[in-house]
Amino acid sequence: MKRGYVMELPELGSATVEMVVDNFIDVFEPSLPGVVERMTPGRLKKPLIAAHGLSMLITMELNGQTKRILMDTSNSPLVLFNNLEALERSVEDIEALFLSHGHPDHYGGLQEVLARRQSPLEVYLHPDCYLPKLLITPRGRVGPWTLEREALERAGARLRENTQPTLIAGGALISGPVEASVSYETPLPGAKRIVNGKEERDDFRDEQVLIMKVKNRGLIVVAACSHPGITNMIRYAQKLTGETKVAAVIGGFHLTAGGEQLIQNTIKGLQELDIGLILAGHCTGFRALASLYAAFPEQFMVSCVGTKVMIS
Ligand SMILES: [Fe+2]
Ligand SMILES: [Fe+2]
Repeated sequence: MKRGYVMELPELGSATVEMVVDNFIDVFEPSLPGVVERMTPGRLKKPLIAAHGLSMLITMELNGQTKRILMDTSNSPLVLFNNLEALERSVEDIEALFLSHGHPDHYGGLQEVLARRQSPLEVYLHPDCYLPKLLITPRGRVGPWTLEREALERAGARLRENTQPTLIAGGALISGPVEASVSYETPLPGAKRIVNGKEERDDFRDEQVLIMKVKNRGLIVVAACSHPGITNMIRYAQKLTGETKVAAVIGGFHLTAGGEQLIQNTIKGLQELDIGLILAGHCTGFRALASLYAAFPEQFMVSCVGTKVMIS
């Protein structure tokens, strides 16, 4: 599919996004009956662990069939497999894995998922995910980290590298590189990658957003780190699908590191869109979460490990 074309997405009967690993857990966060369900830790087989990482289990109902995708694998197999066991989920039940971008807090458990699977697994990712990545932070330089193509293949990955919007598991669209449409969202200068031995600012062409469409409800936009900008990602999802109604936006928005101006501009950008639910977590940042809550008291909820969003 060429960029700018409207793609007819299959209309799902329902879709569920379950946070297997996220940065937060707070047992007192309220649910929203029928839409956002929180785990009751005392009823689980073992404790859930929060970590700086993200992994989401996506379940789609399409024409009476159930399809599951794992989006990202958190920062470590230790956390990922602990939480999968606690939530009584198995990597055998997924039919595809989607890696949102090439940062290690999203691919840390990938090798182990492949190793533990009985059968090979389709892994969707943009080929720039293999470029070494590093970060210049207020506390110094970290990285580089490299995701190795050959190691994934050896472990049983059927690599599906995409640079264009692509339908996966029959029901979800992964966007390919996100087209920018607002000027205030640009990749942060501290994020770097290494190309042909040279360090350069990361343009995050590897980061993709996952988009689903639920019958009579509109889009579910699932972002991971939102380095290309959460407003850009939502607007691109609308452009690709021709659907303006957004039932839910879920994921990490990576806002606090961009400063107060970026937070305020993003809030204005989100206010211009028709969004039913905003569930933010992972790298969004405390200041940004607080500002989002103040700006969207009805729509905003914080994402916790074990939180499940159900749209039907
Ligand atoms: Fe991240
Ligand atoms: Fe990231």
